[in-house]
Amino acid sequence: MRRSLILMRQLFVLLTGLLAAPALVSAAPIPVRGVAWAQACAACHGPDGQSQGAIPALDKLPPKDFRVAMQAFRTEERQGTVMNQIAKGLSEADIEAVTTYFAVRQPRRQQ
Ligand code: HEC
Repeated sequence: MRRSLILMRQLFVLLTGLLAAPALVSAAPIPVRGVAWAQACAACHGPDGQSQGAIPALDKLPPKDFRVAMQAFRTEERQGTVMNQIAKGLSEADIEAVTTYFAVRQPRRQQ
């Protein structure tokens, strides 16, 4: 009896550990991941996507078009020079996060 109680407790600890681990990862707020990606994009698209040069600016792209563009680059439905390779490095969740990042930044810039 006592032994099974200890076993149960060990099982409980193991289970909560297993459940908590992925929760910690996926519970990371979307903007954090979005901010991290946006910094990588800034190298070409400028800070907050406000490119002034030949590379298209991202700051005026509606969030829906932004997401569609990223997905199309990923599946190669849309051919680019560098964006196909870059978009393939992003997961669906990464695309969501970076889309959210630019969507959130947009209204602030237009003020
Ligand atoms: C090495 C430079 C470079 C980096 C880094 C880069 N891009 Fe691009 N991006 C481009 C170029 C160049 C284009 C035009 C399409 C092409 O030639 O691939 C483009 C096009 C786009 C477009 C389509 C714009 C439109 O008006 O249709 C989106 C969306 C985009 N990039 C998002 C991103 C995101 C998000 C990141 C960061 C994860 C990123 N880019 C990082 C160079 C870059």
